[in-house]
This record gives sequence, C-alpha cells and structure tokens, in this order.
Amino acid sequence: MNVAEHAARLRAEIERHNVAYFAHDAPTIPDADYDALVAELRELERLHPELRTEDSVTQTVGAPVATTFREVRHAEPMLSLDNVFDVEELRAWGERAAKGLELDPATLVFAVEPKIDGLALSILYVGGSLVQAATRGDGRVGEDVTENVRTIRNVPAELPGVARGRVEVRGEVFLAKQDFLDLNARQRQLGEKEFANPRNAAAGSLRQKDPSVTASRALSFLVYQLVEVDGASPFTSYVDTIAQLAEWGFLTAAETTVEVGVEAMITRTDWFEEHRHELRYQIDGVVIKIDDLAQRGRLGFTSRAPRWAIARKLPPEERTTRLLAIEVSIGRTGRATPYAVLEPVVVAGSTVSMATLHNQDQVALKDVRPGDLVIVRKAGDVIPEVVSAVVEPGTRRGAKWKFPSKCPDCGGPLERVGEESDTYCVNPACPAQQLQQVIHFASREALDIEGLGEQRVAQLLGERLVADVADLFALSVEDLSSLEGFGELSAKSLVDAIQGAKSMPLSRLLVGLGIRHVGPVAARALASAFRTYGALEGASLEELEAVEGVGPVIARSVYHYFHEDESRERMARLAAAGLSLEEPSSTAGVEPTLAGRAVVVTGVVEGFSRDEAEAAIVERGGTSPGSVSKKTYCVVVGEAPGAAKVSRARDLGVPMVAAEQFGTLLETGSWNATLA
Ligand code: IVH
Repeated sequence: MNVAEHAARLRAEIERHNVAYFAHDAPTIPDADYDALVAELRELERLHPELRTEDSVTQTVGAPVATTFREVRHAEPMLSLDNVFDVEELRAWGERAAKGLELDPATLVFAVEPKIDGLALSILYVGGSLVQAATRGDGRVGEDVTENVRTIRNVPAELPGVARGRVEVRGEVFLAKQDFLDLNARQRQLGEKEFANPRNAAAGSLRQKDPSVTASRALSFLVYQLVEVDGASPFTSYVDTIAQLAEWGFLTAAETTVEVGVEAMITRTDWFEEHRHELRYQIDGVVIKIDDLAQRGRLGFTSRAPRWAIARKLPPEERTTRLLAIEVSIGRTGRATPYAVLEPVVVAGSTVSMATLHNQDQVALKDVRPGDLVIVRKAGDVIPEVVSAVVEPGTRRGAKWKFPSKCPDCGGPLERVGEESDTYCVNPACPAQQLQQVIHFASREALDIEGLGEQRVAQLLGERLVADVADLFALSVEDLSSLEGFGELSAKSLVDAIQGAKSMPLSRLLVGLGIRHVGPVAARALASAFRTYGALEGASLEELEAVEGVGPVIARSVYHYFHEDESRERMARLAAAGLSLEEPSSTAGVEPTLAGRAVVVTGVVEGFSRDEAEAAIVERGGTSPGSVSKKTYCVVVGEAPGAAKVSRARDLGVPMVAAEQFGTLLETGSWNATLA
C-alpha cells in the first residue's frame, strides 16, 4: 500500500467513526484509539503536504458530519441580502431603485430596521396552528427544527383569530446580549466550552437533538417577513404586514422606522451605527426595504437576493490600547485560561480592561506580548478580545510570552492533554479549583445555599475551614461566629442553610458535584432513571448510556467520576453527613419545562398554596426565589400581588404572567400572553 492509499484508508475509517459518534451518538471505538488514528493521519499529512485535502477530517474533526434533522424544502426560497459597506454605495442603491420605478429618490418610502445577527427561520401555520419550523439551510432545503422552535417562548403556538389557511412567517432566531452572557456563565460553571458569540450560541441552541436543551436556552424570535397568507397577501405595505404580525403576538423590531426619501433613509442608518451598542440584541448592520409591496414586485429579485432590499453592514468597532500583562486564571475543572490585562479603553459602548486570549495556541498565533499596542474589539459585540498586535516600526518589543508551566495559584504542574488546545492544572488540591467548585456547589442551580456566595466561600477557604464541598456540612455556628463579618445570627443562618441543603434531591447534588458535561438536564435524566446514588454509582457504562437524554460523552464522564477514589471518598463523606442522595419519586414523569429558570410567584394562585406553587416549579427544574431580579424568567401575578415585586418586574422588563396561565407555564415552560 502506498502512502496516498494509506492516507485515504485512514480518512475513510475516521469518517466512519465520526458518523457513528456525531450523527448516531454511538462511538464504535474508544476515544484514545480514535485520537491515535487522527494523529497518524495528521503526521502523514505533515510529512506529505500534497496529500492534505481541504475537507480532510484533520481539518474538520469535531464537526458533526451529518445531522438527524429531517429535510424541509422551502415553498419559496429563503434568499439572502446584498450588502453595501458605506453611505455612497447605499445612496447609489436607493437612486437605482428609484430610477427603476421611475420615481424621484426624494419621495421613495423605505422601512429601516436592525439587521440582527442570528439565524434565519421560517415558520408555517396551518389553520392558525404552528405545524412546521425550518432553518434556512442552503436557501432551498433547510432542517426541520419544529419541536425545538415550539420551546421558544415568544413564538406563538396559535395565531389568534386565524382559523383557516396557511400563514408562513420568517424572521431571525437570536440570543439577546444579556441572555448570551448568562448562558456562557452557565457553560463556564458546567466546565463546558463557552460560545464565541451570540450567533453561534443561538445556532447551537436551536440545532439540539433534545428540545429540552433548547428550552433551557433563552432564545428569541423576531419576525421580518410575511411570506404567505392563505395564498395571497391582503396588505399593500410592509409596515402594515409587520403591524399584523405584532398583533398575532410576534416580536417585531421596535427600532424600525419609515423614512421618506433616500437622504432621510441614510440618516436613519447612521442612527443605528451610533446607537447599535445600546440595543439589547447584537446587530451587524441595518436592513433597508422598500415599503410598498407593489413597487417591490416591479423591482423583483436577482438569483441571490431581492432588488428591493439591501443591508448596510456595520464593521465591528476596534480600538487600540496597551497590553499591560498576560495572566492565567484557573477554572473549576482546572482549565487554565490566559487573558490580557489592558490599559482601560472604551470599546463598543463599555470600558474594557481585560480580554480573553482563549488558550495557549491563540496566544502563540497572535504573538501578542506584554508592552505591545494591541487592537481590541468585542466578539459578537459582547466579549472583549485581542485581535492582533500593532508593531510600531523602530520600537523594540518585549520577549515572546511563554505559557507558564506551573499553576499561578498552587504552583502545581500545568498540563496539556492529547490534542486538546486547553491546558489544565492537574492538582486536585489546587485552591483556585476548590474555590470555584464550592461556589458552584452552593449556586442556585445546584444546592442553592443562601448566603454562601463567592466572597464567603473565599473566606472559608482562606481560613482553612473548607477545602472540599463535603467540609461544608461539618461547619458549626462556633466555627463561623468568630470570623470577620459574621455575628451569632448570620453564622446560625448560614449553618441552617447548609444543613437545609441536605434534603435536596439527587439531581441537584449531581449538578453541584460539577461532573464534566453534566448540567441540570442530564442530572435530572440520570437521577430519575436511577433514583438513588447507590444505583447510579453501580451502573455500567452501557446502563448509563441507555438513559434517554444521556449520550456516550456524558455517560463516560459520569462513569469516570464515580470510579475515581477522590470522588468516592467525597460521596462517602456526603452520605455520612446525612445528605439524601435520592430522587423523590414525585418528580418522575414530570417534564423539566422550567429547567434552569427562575419563576417568582406573587399573590394567591388559585388551586395552589404558596408551597405547592413553589414545589411545582422546582419539580419542573426551575427555582422560585423570593425576589425579582433581571435574571427572573417571569413573574406569576396572582390575586393581591406584592406591589414591590410588580413594580420591580416592570422596571426590569421581566415578563408578568397572569395566574390563570400558571398551568400552561408549568406544562409548556411558556405562556400565551403577558400582563401590561
Ligand atoms: S430580510 C428576502 N430583515 O440577514 C429578504 N433579514 O444577510 C430576507 N437578517 O438571511 C431577509 N435581520 O437571516 C431581513 N431585518 C432583517 C434581518 C435579516 C437579519 C438576516 C437574515 C438574512 C440575512 C441576510
């Protein structure tokens, strides 16, 4: 066999394993063997670069090669938009359109709206009910994501007043900036990879095989097109169709305006450039559309895009500043992330003094060095990142930065495993890891221990009262009351809160342990399948994989966790401390419709006592805190509600839902209408 044949064979074999792993979630060989095959191919390609093809698996490893979504052919193709990059090009487009319509450019009417950076989605209603939702795909054929779209809370399931016929609407699925930051914070807590920008996060969340994962992400949908209304459109103007869509309950862009004449239209696009960072979603441009539908018909389409619309693209804002230092932070799983310490600079609407550098390879690739002038921008308008160094001619640069070989916190070795680009502190006793682990254990999604926030945890670790989560349960009032900032009363309430957490269900404990890849959804699936820690710990790899919603990656991670001495010892101590380690049977068969969501209840909800309402929320994976914050998913308003909660919800823009909708909320995780 010659070298080319050998490479081709390796490629084919790896592709086969990829399909098994990514498309069917059923790997056919152990990870290490798979990695060895990839390493062998990579080495062959290094020695014989002529053999490397662009689509070689060495270039695409990790990407799903096939999907399990059904294909959907679009009745009308989903087209793209042509782009312009400056005002001159935009004016030329407007004048061309006016000329084509034999109109004065000063009288042509435009709608000007944000170009949201998400992904296009088409939704079909038949007889007023949502029957199908599909991604754009290649424009002609997309993927059927109906079940996932049903979980998006602002997509109406029914169109009020529409009893017959077909209605197709199109728009953008996106994650608002704040929801994106919250999601990444959660990914970080889980030891999962964070998303690079809101667009990727939205795409990843929509294309989930398990709709309950999509449900746990705060996706939104904004409409910008009514494709079909029972065969024909009764409207003559775009803004009228948008008004109808809003009436049906769809989210429309509040910033959209109608402008008369090309110059007024251009001025409005400038407004978007100036205010883009104040919007709650990330935009990458402005879309300008001719408002009159008859005029649109006369202008028509090119093969790729309509002639009656255009996108003015806005470049990401970039600033130059000084890189003061490169430091490394240690996360809960020991992952060491390098970050840049910057001379503070205002970028995209806020002051930036730190920016992630992702990993060792990224720093090497960008070759940024302390002392350099660097270009900074926000990825997806939110996450500060260093783009590159500006090397000033004639200046002497500092030495190339080297990734430390020792953990900045514990001094233990930092190691890189296999082909991964990440580096880890492998010392299980590293205080930085312990700190993050205990914070996670006490967090709202895990054991929800009130009063045990980041600062308190740091204090307890600093005083050497706690090194592991199991130590928490041995804390006494005497231990705490002598500490700075504690009184007898606060010491007692913290000890009570910790002791109270012992009765938390097994699923919450599983979240708290911080097992890699195990978030609330997987934890609930495992806990309701095995019921007790004893059964879970004794399960074979095959038994774990057989659980609905648990793929091979999660199964392996759980299996390894419970077979490590250190975790076994921790579990023995938790059991000895009296933790329940059981999943109460009442949660069996209940859908986690409120997974990870905080629902505040105020006033009396008919048919439920206060405790019952709370229990119903918790049973579905939610939490029911006593106060409203900007993280609150919604506020259920019953009879005689608390005025403070209602006014705070209004101030923060948190949706308020009438008590009559509580049943729907529990069942679907969503509601049909909000209170004003
Ligand atoms: S209209 C036939 N309006 O941008 C015209 N698209 O680059 C269809 N997009 O595929 C598109 N905001 O995913 C339109 N207000 C908006 C938009 C918008 C974002 C996306 C859409 C489209 C892409 C084109």
